[in-house]
Amino acid sequence: MTKYLTRGVGALLSMTALSAPALADEVEVMHWWTSGGEAAAIAVLQEDLQARGTGWVDMAIAGGGGDAAMTALRARVVAGNPPTAAQMLGMTVRDWADEGFLGNLNAVAEAEGWNDVVPPAVQAFGTFDGEWVAAPVNIHRPHWVWANAGIFEELGLSMPTTWDEFFAAADAIEAAGHVGVAMGGQAWQEATIWEAIVLSVSPELYEAAIINADMDALGSEGIVESFEIFRRVLGYADPGYAGRDWNLATAMVINGEAGMQIMGDWAKGEVINAGLTPGEQVLCAVVPGTDGAFLFNTDFFAMFDVGEDAQAAQRNMASAAMSVSFQETFNLAKGSIPARTDVPSANFDVCGQTSMADLVEATEAGTLFGSLAHGHGQPASVQAAYLDVVTQFANSDMTPEAAAEALVASVGGAL
Ligand code: BGC
Repeated sequence: MTKYLTRGVGALLSMTALSAPALADEVEVMHWWTSGGEAAAIAVLQEDLQARGTGWVDMAIAGGGGDAAMTALRARVVAGNPPTAAQMLGMTVRDWADEGFLGNLNAVAEAEGWNDVVPPAVQAFGTFDGEWVAAPVNIHRPHWVWANAGIFEELGLSMPTTWDEFFAAADAIEAAGHVGVAMGGQAWQEATIWEAIVLSVSPELYEAAIINADMDALGSEGIVESFEIFRRVLGYADPGYAGRDWNLATAMVINGEAGMQIMGDWAKGEVINAGLTPGEQVLCAVVPGTDGAFLFNTDFFAMFDVGEDAQAAQRNMASAAMSVSFQETFNLAKGSIPARTDVPSANFDVCGQTSMADLVEATEAGTLFGSLAHGHGQPASVQAAYLDVVTQFANSDMTPEAAAEALVASVGGAL
């Protein structure tokens, strides 16, 4: 899948005057935050900016994980009319910066001391050639299990800490007439589950097979095991899961149709938006066996280089998105934790506080890695090679051994 402009087209476009610059006092923002929880979170930014005198032109493109938004973004850039700002995941920031399309945020970053408060792992994606090119608004953790507390209480279950416990819980939930595991049916959702399982086999396997794309690791027994566990998890989905959006799967857990969902903590934004308290009506625990490790994905706002007229509004937006108060309010709604280390944890729920503590622990232990499914593990072209195999496995009767072989071939061909 060719996801990005070729260098030649990129260079040509950056030499061409880009049309329709946004007004000095407004930003046009492309993003994919359209579920209830996501929309509530972005409204915080919108209001914050409006209070600073900067208007908001909304370019929301529905589609979890951002695939549709990234396609729309490319179309706008190819047409010579990029938005002022766009939501992006880590590797995408690098790609657009490498093509020369992004503006430089160093003035704001230096004046506000971003280097001192943003964790180095996040800085690595927000900067390019030593310059800040995108403002990080959060740190999401994709490997969580969400569970309906009422069902768990009724069945005397506690949150699983091993895969055996997970499958025993799923059996009990099914026997009581609920869906065991609420699944969504898109490649990025399947990959969110599979990468968590790889991490649970061992952090060393995740690092070798995913971050380093090591061929021996990709073809290893550990990867076969990850597909075996994935096959068992898939067995607890209801037959109607194909094509289902992630937030509809979360709703199944909230309303008691299903017992559990494996999904990133944006699912917590849905819980909060439904007026419930995470840790009370909907329980959270990291995916069995991933305690002590931390996969992350960060949503950035990158500013396109659309001319001087737009720069004051872009700086305003970057500054607003990085303020301590915004990062607290926004992340309380979004389900993530702040991308700054100096935001107090007191107002976060038990799942958020766990994430904050685990991030520090995993950073020290060397078990903090970027999420493959969410654009922080491999560049888009290589990521697609992994996701193709994972989704093919999920939607066929491919064996775990064949999946490991297919991964070696697919990723090997994309590198
Ligand atoms: C983004 C989240 C978003 C989720 C579902 C992830 O890739 O980082 O902000 O809520 O996709 O749309």
